[in-house]
Amino acid sequence: MLGEMNEVQSDLAQLIRLALAEQTEDVRLFVARLVRKYRNTDPELAEQMDLYLRAKTPRSSAPMRKVMQPALPTQTLPVDEESRLSLLKVFKDEPSREQPLLSLDLEETLSQLIQERRQTERLASMGLSPTRSAIFVGPPGVGKTLTARWLASQLGVPLYVLDLTVVMSSLLGRSGSNLRTALDFSKRGPCVLLLDEVDAIAKRRSDDADIGELKRLVTVILQEVDEWPATSLLLAATNHAELIDPALWRRFDLVINFKAPEMPAVKQAIKRFLGQDYALFGRWIDILTFVFNGESFSDIERDLQRFRRAIALGTASDADLIEEFVKSRALVLERQGRIDLAVLLVKQTRLSQHTISDITGVSRDTIRKYTSEQLPTVKKPSKRKTDA
Ligand SMILES: Nc1ncnc2c1ncn2[C@@H]1O[C@H](COP(=O)(O)OP(=O)(O)OP(=O)(O)O)[C@@H](O)[C@H]1O
Ligand SMILES: [Mg+2]
Repeated sequence: MLGEMNEVQSDLAQLIRLALAEQTEDVRLFVARLVRKYRNTDPELAEQMDLYLRAKTPRSSAPMRKVMQPALPTQTLPVDEESRLSLLKVFKDEPSREQPLLSLDLEETLSQLIQERRQTERLASMGLSPTRSAIFVGPPGVGKTLTARWLASQLGVPLYVLDLTVVMSSLLGRSGSNLRTALDFSKRGPCVLLLDEVDAIAKRRSDDADIGELKRLVTVILQEVDEWPATSLLLAATNHAELIDPALWRRFDLVINFKAPEMPAVKQAIKRFLGQDYALFGRWIDILTFVFNGESFSDIERDLQRFRRAIALGTASDADLIEEFVKSRALVLERQGRIDLAVLLVKQTRLSQHTISDITGVSRDTIRKYTSEQLPTVKKPSKRKTDA
């Protein structure tokens, strides 16, 4: 339908749609865009719109903050009619919430996102709207859900997490309307809406579920991403990028990649997760960093919590815990990894070569060979040569 209209007609239709949905902030953003668009072709119209825009001062200079005032206090959350289960989970966190550990790139991207939301007026005055949607991609346990929560807390709005299992567990034929209900509720915002594990829809395809039904779900999401109001931020998260419909993929304003932590982040994570027990485990930090390398944040956290519980109850000493743990991790390392680990243990602990050999599975001869080689720093001179 929209395709058959001319530009002006479709602009008008869009404006009416936004106005009737009382998406005032979006109307403002849209009009600002129109002012720029028509400045050359129809300067009078542009000027008139500009006047209206300036006359109508916004109620709040930070629309995402509105929620801080109890504007929508006890709106009942949408539920699945059949099961009465809530379609959305709500998180309302204080802005003082600790920031997740993030790579520098990621930190910058998120900070830009936050700045845009805090300065929507400024953007609007230049005919721009803030990023409306982003998709988080990455392996499990690296902070996708956590970051969504933190973002919402920084923006001072609630986070709604769509529970796709509830949406889809409903009677066949109702999941589409469930999804719409949940999205309509969130659109009234301001909020952050997270479509967590959005690949769940795609995964169902291989199950016995009705293909038509799934297609409808994807269609609903496609439309919603297109029409999402700038007042709320729409996020999706997945650890299966390859399962996401390419049409959906394209519709997100931003793709944000989350990666498993690298060495420095692993070290930071260990410090954070050890909390007050850091003093006790501090001397193992390099060894722990080595063996945790390549693990997700949530795996690191889980193992460290286990250590801390054992220490708290006095069921094991830190040295025993570490030794046993390092041994189990050594099993999955490649030979060179095990040798590096053995060298590290020689340098950083008082364990005997015999014990180290036992832990790492590296022979004492090899350990001796590598530790005597390690003494002079072999790498630096050759590096200087290539630099020059
Ligand atoms: N970047 C991080 N900084 C600090 N803690 C983290 C980070 N990532 C994960 N964690 C810890 O691991 C837990 C799980 O992380 P989260 O649920 O955000 O992972 P996810 O990326 O959403 O994984 P999944 O794909 O399995 O949903 C968090 O509650 C937190 O305790
Ligand atoms: Mg998650």
